[in-house]
Amino acid sequence: MTTPAASTGDRPPAPHADAVDAGVVDAILGELLLTPEGRRDPYDRYRRVRELAPVHRSGLGFWVLTCYDDCQQVLRDPRFGKGDPDDRRARLPPEAVDAVARIRRRAPSMLFLDPPDHTRVRALVSKAFTARTVERMRPHIGRLLDGLLDGIDAAGGDTVDVMAAVAFPLPVTVIGEMLGIPPADRDAFQPWVRASTALLELTIDPAAIVAAADAGDEMSRYFEELLADRRRAPGDDLLSELLAVREAGDALREDELISTAILLFGAGFETTTNLIGNGLLALLRHPDSLGRLRADPALLRPAVEELLRWDSPVQLDGRVALREAEVCGRHVDRGTFVVTMLGAANRDPQRFADPDVLDLTRDQGPPMSFGSGIHYCLGQALARLEGQVVFERLLRRYRRIELASDDVTYRPGLTLRGVTALPVRCER
Ligand code: HEM
Repeated sequence: MTTPAASTGDRPPAPHADAVDAGVVDAILGELLLTPEGRRDPYDRYRRVRELAPVHRSGLGFWVLTCYDDCQQVLRDPRFGKGDPDDRRARLPPEAVDAVARIRRRAPSMLFLDPPDHTRVRALVSKAFTARTVERMRPHIGRLLDGLLDGIDAAGGDTVDVMAAVAFPLPVTVIGEMLGIPPADRDAFQPWVRASTALLELTIDPAAIVAAADAGDEMSRYFEELLADRRRAPGDDLLSELLAVREAGDALREDELISTAILLFGAGFETTTNLIGNGLLALLRHPDSLGRLRADPALLRPAVEELLRWDSPVQLDGRVALREAEVCGRHVDRGTFVVTMLGAANRDPQRFADPDVLDLTRDQGPPMSFGSGIHYCLGQALARLEGQVVFERLLRRYRRIELASDDVTYRPGLTLRGVTALPVRCER
């Protein structure tokens, strides 16, 4: 491993928000969270926040961390967790109380649980996602991708939207097959998953909460019926396996099984999809890097790590102080929400030398894109594998790939980062 720019110990004392004008930092955060310009170029804004106040107490009621080590420390600290849903509810607009109550009636998925429930639920599904288990899927994922690319080539159009043709259907098919969700049912989930991911944003309007509650109800109903089918006729899939675990004892309640199914299926939608989209966009905007990767397939694994670092599909994460604690030496009360800006941590010069340079040979440790600590992404091996398969096979199949337009539009929201469409021209 090459040496990062400097260790945290060498960090010069940075001004806290108290010392700088907190309003200036909040204004930058507002641009990030609320404006299309902020979404188009978050990285310069992250840099300004990090330089002004790497540990920022926002007037919006939460703390914001933008350095790699600080984010990692909070995500790994058992004094921080997902917290009491009532604390989370306090951050939601009161107009959405009924919708919030509907959301709360359902069992939270592992993503929102603290130990011991988190440990119990995660343990039951984790073996399906180990690096060894998913590696066996490499040839099959390659064949699925080839099928999608054959379809594109047969259509013979001038340009193709990679998001619609590859980045969305591939991960959805992979996780859909693993769970045993019939192909005809999969597309119905896209609007539901999109509506429910609004809950991951820092700023949510009441209408979005209502839409998320409605989508959650639809998905729960869908899985109740699917599980009833699987109970009658078990298949060779993860849901049938989890059902067998459930029937054999009380390790997983029925409502927990449903929230697990929703989380696992939903996780394949806007995350790996955006790894493929953001990663390809980065390569197409850096033709030298693309040429290097084409010439040296051994770069594939580090390239996917660098593409994850460069433009992470998940830009932020967060934890609640479960009791009184400190953040970077500063006292925080129980219930304080701390935002860990993963996208900013990935560009922290204390961790990554020349962070604003895309370097596919970079070897400075993993990006923060999959989070850290006990909630570290369960699907990371699968996501990495899918990224590797896509970039390898796209470059092998097409001797030329270029952007049909550089004017891309980002999806609303900051937490999940991805483009609405990515039109490219390919030549075999
Ligand atoms: C490039 C793609 C992906 C990215 C960037 C990503 C990112 C993340 C992040 C940052 C977390 C931590 C959340 C937290 O700390 O609260 C997480 C958790 C999780 N991810 Fe992913 N993810 C990706 C793909 C996937 C896939 C394909 C799956 C499929 C199963 C998946 C399943 C999960 C689950 C179940 C959790 C919750 C783990 C827990 O709470 O213990 N992810 N992911």
